[in-house]
Amino acid sequence: MINVCWVYPDGTEHNASVAEGVNLMEAAIANDIESIYGECGGSMACATCHVEVDETSGVAAGQPFAMENEMLDMVESGRTPTSRLSCQLVASQELDGIRMKVTW
Ligand code: FES
Repeated sequence: MINVCWVYPDGTEHNASVAEGVNLMEAAIANDIESIYGECGGSMACATCHVEVDETSGVAAGQPFAMENEMLDMVESGRTPTSRLSCQLVASQELDGIRMKVTW
């Protein structure tokens, strides 16, 4: 299990323990995180799982994949240098302690 934190625009934090191997869109849905919908089921066709990784936590999620990168250009709230599609982030020890800003 790893620790994951979603942060809403008002600063409210939602923490959860997530099993390794679960993608962080599925984890958000399972934890009723607002504004993460995962409409395409994780096939990189909707961008409704957009998050901004808060790298001040010391956990970086790396760069988006090529197709993910194209989808991030379509995010309604606008992308940032740390934007990712959370369906492409799979819980692993490297992501333990990750903080993600949820946008809406
Ligand atoms: S769930 Fe659709 S792009 Fe992530």
